[in-house]
Amino acid sequence: MNSIAVLTSGGDAPGMNAAIRAVVRSALTLNMKVYGVNRGYSGLISGDFFEMMDRNSVSDIIRRGGTILHTARCDEFKTEEGREKALKRLSAFNIEGLVAIGGDGTFRGASLLTKMGFPVSCIPGTIDNDLPYTDYSVGFDTAVNTVLDAINKISDTAGSHERVSVVEVMGRNCGDIALFTGVAGGAESIIVPEKSYNINSICKSILESKIKGRKHYLIIVAEGIGGAERIAEKIEDMTGIETRSTTLGYIQRGGSPSAKDRGLASKYGCYAVDTLHKGVISSAVGIKSNKVFHIEIEEALSMKKVFDEEMYNIFLRLSL
Ligand code: F6P
Repeated sequence: MNSIAVLTSGGDAPGMNAAIRAVVRSALTLNMKVYGVNRGYSGLISGDFFEMMDRNSVSDIIRRGGTILHTARCDEFKTEEGREKALKRLSAFNIEGLVAIGGDGTFRGASLLTKMGFPVSCIPGTIDNDLPYTDYSVGFDTAVNTVLDAINKISDTAGSHERVSVVEVMGRNCGDIALFTGVAGGAESIIVPEKSYNINSICKSILESKIKGRKHYLIIVAEGIGGAERIAEKIEDMTGIETRSTTLGYIQRGGSPSAKDRGLASKYGCYAVDTLHKGVISSAVGIKSNKVFHIEIEEALSMKKVFDEEMYNIFLRLSL
């Protein structure tokens, strides 16, 4: 394989740039030419490519959030006609393989392309950490650290005013951001889509903590549950303690990637290039027990995300 392309698609995530850098530089060490594709699959269809032969074109991006290649969601790529157009563009540039960085939508597009015989290697890049086949996706660790930073600040004010804080975090239907920040932020309760919850027991535990001398209380709500404001109102009504809600929103998607995300993105980028170089048609690159591996994209998409019960039980034990 002499020539590959790289794109980012779907929601941006911190560390995508680090992955692009790793793809470009590792491909150059194998004497492969690399094209960057702007705006994900829509750039593939319109032929919005730029050549990145020079290692300097990815200089100074490892520390930057967002994606230098921009990103987009593309309905046209879901049609066979759209994908045929993309394949024509790729062949016009003699591009023989693609690295696609993104979440499940990106993986679905990639899988369809591999079924048309075009080799693709997928790198998981989403703050949600909702891809079931891998322990971690690029961006998750940074998002968790961003949330923790916000929680620290919110907790200062909650402590001063002796309030309850209800903080809503992103994650679509996955509770991983809520779970990890709940443990690391010492929350009173976490409310995630994977577990049923009871507002009465949450209020009871707040009141018990108050008796034990606690001055402020943190409740993390995952986006998949939503309604932080409504939950805050209920808590205030039932406990009589002043309660405020904050929905953190897009600050969770931006920012300089953490060391962990930079390292993970660098590992994934090199591995994805090696898989294409070895002639693998369909690969979803992931990590399990600190070991990078790949499986077929379709297999990765067919798996069901398993909630981290061990972490959840640790949370329950420590929040008593
Ligand atoms: O997938 C990342 C994410 O931020 C989710 O947590 C959230 O549900 C979604 O993207 C928001 O997407 P958009 O920015 O397209 O509205």
